[in-house]
Amino acid sequence: MRITRKIADHVYWIGGNDRRIERFENMFPLPDGVAYNAYLILDEKTVLLDTVDSAIRDQFIENTTAVLGERTLDYLVINHMEPDHCGNIETIVRMYPKVKVVGNKKTFEFFKQYYSLDISQNALVVKEGDTINVGEHTLKFHMAPMVHWPEVMFTIEQKNGILFSADAFGSFGAHSGTIFADETDFERTFLDETRRYYANIVGRYGSQVQAVLKRLPLESITMICPLHGPIWRKDIQYILDKYALWSTYTPEQNGVVLVYASMYGNTEHAMTALANKLAERGIPDLRMFDVSKTHPSYIISDIWKYSHIVLASPTYNMHLYFPMESLLREMAALNLQNRSVALLGNHTWSSAAVKLMSGLLGTMKDIRFIGEPLDIHSSLKAEQEKELDVLADAITQSYIAHV
Ligand code: FEO
Repeated sequence: MRITRKIADHVYWIGGNDRRIERFENMFPLPDGVAYNAYLILDEKTVLLDTVDSAIRDQFIENTTAVLGERTLDYLVINHMEPDHCGNIETIVRMYPKVKVVGNKKTFEFFKQYYSLDISQNALVVKEGDTINVGEHTLKFHMAPMVHWPEVMFTIEQKNGILFSADAFGSFGAHSGTIFADETDFERTFLDETRRYYANIVGRYGSQVQAVLKRLPLESITMICPLHGPIWRKDIQYILDKYALWSTYTPEQNGVVLVYASMYGNTEHAMTALANKLAERGIPDLRMFDVSKTHPSYIISDIWKYSHIVLASPTYNMHLYFPMESLLREMAALNLQNRSVALLGNHTWSSAAVKLMSGLLGTMKDIRFIGEPLDIHSSLKAEQEKELDVLADAITQSYIAHV
């Protein structure tokens, strides 16, 4: 049976969910699954905007044919040529051999790289500002390179001001029947997953997100239709404001994320003692993670949210404990910037962790080190309480200065 929603006059959501998938891109855990959104416009001409992952092909094809009814498909717009959205292009072209496939030059380059079907006779190449009129509705195309792939484009339906935004404004998490953000308790059910999606998938490309948002006629947008997660039709400014912060690496909130690596519990103990002192000094909402236990995408997400980070790691084989090194390399690869960071190291016979953590952080822009790193020998001793107090005071002062 079809599972679809009418989202505006002549415009339908025809996507679906995958709740069985374990990891997005085989990397990021999906405890609540993921939604693949696709959209269909029925006007004098019919237009499909993107397809879905091959995992939900049957539902998608049933939705598409049910909404089209007896009609054929005239256009397929490919806003993003990544397999979680283009997994059904070949199927659609085989079903509707005369369909015009709309994309940019790169879209078709990538299509050829992924697939064997020759769609050169179907291809309609568009560039920035091009339009297609399909009856009452006109579609305008805006290139959005590197948000987060080079071929990405956004399509704006001009009559209603509907922005089809590819992966931008997307989220992890399947729909629960509801598909609009205003039909959910968004802050409870989707905000953390929207941030985790942004930070880990799009986070590296903040300047490109800024560039495209500045070029779009945002004042005329009444609905944002991303390829994952909820659709925005009310309080659009809410998600635009989040994107303004996330894409400029501006913390959403003053707060401290404490991330430790600990082999036998001694570094964890030192971090817990520090956290206790921060709480005593009045810092609320402390967020602590064991880097060996929590998937880095969740840690990265909180690092994107908060202003301060404390990292604690033992030296391991005269190197940095591998999961901590991996986290730092991921932060650098995602272009994290503009955070205040304190360091805590631990070693038994050779100290390297503090130096290596400083070095990796030094590759990121606008990282401000707080106080002097505390480097302990195997375990924190009571006589080191003063040193811990000094570090806790420095973090507290930095936190207060940031408020
Ligand atoms: Fe949802 Fe970049 O693919």
